[in-house]
Amino acid sequence: MIDINGSTKIFGLIGNPVEHTLSPLIHNQLAALMGYNMAYVPFLVTDGKTMTASAALAAAIPGAFTLGIGGLNITVPYKSAVLPLLERVEAPAAAIGAVNTLVRGENGYIGYNTDAEGLYRAMQDDGININNEAVIVLGAGGAARAAAFMAAFKGAAAVVIMNRAAAKATALAAEINKVTARECAAGGALADFKALPARKHLVIQATSVGLNEPADRAVIADPAFYQLVHTGYELIYRPSETMFMNLTRQAGGRAYNGLKMLLYQAVQAFELWHQTAVPPAVAAQVYRELQDINIKAASPVNRRYAGEEA
Ligand code: ATR
Repeated sequence: MIDINGSTKIFGLIGNPVEHTLSPLIHNQLAALMGYNMAYVPFLVTDGKTMTASAALAAAIPGAFTLGIGGLNITVPYKSAVLPLLERVEAPAAAIGAVNTLVRGENGYIGYNTDAEGLYRAMQDDGININNEAVIVLGAGGAARAAAFMAAFKGAAAVVIMNRAAAKATALAAEINKVTARECAAGGALADFKALPARKHLVIQATSVGLNEPADRAVIADPAFYQLVHTGYELIYRPSETMFMNLTRQAGGRAYNGLKMLLYQAVQAFELWHQTAVPPAVAAQVYRELQDINIKAASPVNRRYAGEEA
C-alpha cells in the first residue's frame, strides 16, 4: 500500500483507453522496491461535449506541468500528437516521430522514446545481438517504426521492413536510410520474403496480427518464411504465446514475447525521471510479477501489445 503524504510525487500515463495498462503496476512496484515516495496513476484524456481530443491533450500537457506532475508516459493515440506540446524532443524520438515518455524540463516536458531503447534492453537481456545482424521487421505502424529505427541505430547490417501496405514499408526504409546516412534499410510487401537470401534472420513481429485477429493467425503463415528465422521477437505480450512464436519454434528458431520490452520501456522511463539506475535484480523481480499477472489476465478478449502500451 502506497503511503501518500505531503511530499508524494505524482507520475502517470496519458492515453485512451488506459484501463488495461500494466504501467501503474510496474512503476509503483519499482518505487516500492527502490524507496521512492511517488504514485503512478492512469489519466484518461478524451474528447468532451465542448472539446476535441487534441484540444484536451493540448490542455492536459501544460496543465500536468503546472501541477508539478513529475513525469508522464504517453500511449495510444497520443504518441505523435503530443510532439508539438513539448519543450523539446530527444534525438531518437524525433526520428521515430513518436514519444512515450515525458521528463520535466525548464518550462515544459522533454519527449523521449523508451519503446526503442526498451526493446533493445529486452533483447540484450535475452542475449540477442543487433550489431551486424540481418533484421526483418514485420509491420510499418507505430511499434514497427520504433523497432526498425532501433535496429538501424544499434548497428544492424540490414533492416528489411515488410508490411501489408508495402508503400508504408518503403517510405519507412527511406526515412531510416536518410537519418542514419547509410543504406541499411529496405522495404516491401510481406510476400517479398521469397526474394530474401536464404540465411537466418532476427525477426521482430511488430504488426497487430495476433492482437486484433484470431489467435491462430500469424501475419505470415507460410512455413517457408520461418526457415529464414533464427529468432522471432514478438511485440505482443498477451497472449504470451502467439502463432508467430509457435511457427518460429516449429522451424527450430527461438521465440520471445513483448513482456520484457514492456518492462524495460518502463524501467528506462523510471531511470530518466529519477536519474537513477534500476538494479538488474529489481528489474528481474518486477518481471516475475508481470509474468504472473499476464498469465492470470490472459483471455481471448484481453490481448496486449508492448508497443501500444506505455
Ligand atoms: P501500432 O502503433 O500499434 O504499431 P498501427 O500503427 O495501427 O499500430 O500499425 C499496425 C500494423 O499492423 C501495421 O503495420 C498494419 O499493416 P498496414 O500498414 O498494412 O495496415 C499491420 N496489420 C494490422 N492488421 C493486419 C493484418 N490483418 N494483416 C497484415 N498486417 C496487419
